[in-house]
Amino acid sequence: MRVIILPDAEAVARRAARFVVDLMAKKPACVLGLATGSTPLGAYRELIRQHRESGLDFSHVTTFNLDEYVGLGPSHPQSYRQFMQTNFFDQINVDVNRTHVPDGRALNFEHSCRLYEQRIAEAGGIDLQILGIGTDGHIAFNEPGSSLGSRTRLKTLTSETIRDNARFFGSEEDVPRLAITMGVGTILESRCCLLMAIGESKATAIRDTVEGPITAQVTASALQLHREVIVVVDEAAANLLARKDYYAEVEQAQTLLEAGDFRALGIGKHA
Ligand code: PGA
Repeated sequence: MRVIILPDAEAVARRAARFVVDLMAKKPACVLGLATGSTPLGAYRELIRQHRESGLDFSHVTTFNLDEYVGLGPSHPQSYRQFMQTNFFDQINVDVNRTHVPDGRALNFEHSCRLYEQRIAEAGGIDLQILGIGTDGHIAFNEPGSSLGSRTRLKTLTSETIRDNARFFGSEEDVPRLAITMGVGTILESRCCLLMAIGESKATAIRDTVEGPITAQVTASALQLHREVIVVVDEAAANLLARKDYYAEVEQAQTLLEAGDFRALGIGKHA
């Protein structure tokens, strides 16, 4: 895991957006995995800014969102489809037909979940999956106890998640109890995972994810098994990490490597 610790939410947003922009430069027809929630909003704002000011082109990009509440149609103000339209899709030049969010109103859940997995496969798989993390350590709506091999399916939300998300609905009673979510296994198949976290409420979940054991009780910890994971966090969310200093040293070395400053890394010194 590459752990990047930055001073504040602004810096986290800019850094996360940079990973997306770099991918789009290399692969204009890339497949992005997107997340909802408050965490990725800053990164979306930065991408919108670059679209407006520098013409960042989303016209060939395909997107797949992680999850959707069951029972909410696409135009419901709290549906994740609506969230994505308002906060991202309507403000860039992505082709709406290339954007995918699970269907919260499909009653044949098994079929629609299978279809979602099939669409991801047909698009060639996800190149970069953006992830937030729940205070209970969930990624997407893979609540504690979810199989680490799980695929897109129906999931019951924990009371902790319902409490966390009540702020968007006005009251806990209005938060749907069920969601359709990509599974942990689905997420692990993305070529790269970009996990973002901001604020001290995420510090325990981040510590357990990065430095704890791999366990279905903290589904984000399954990311330790993935080949390419980037964790971008602010100081507050990184606060409980024991190996903070080492992660900073790795980033420093990475920066020197990217700049081709081999002497500063001691390469060639002993020749
Ligand atoms: P948040 O949600 O970004 O609103 O904190 C993250 C999550 O629950 O996955």
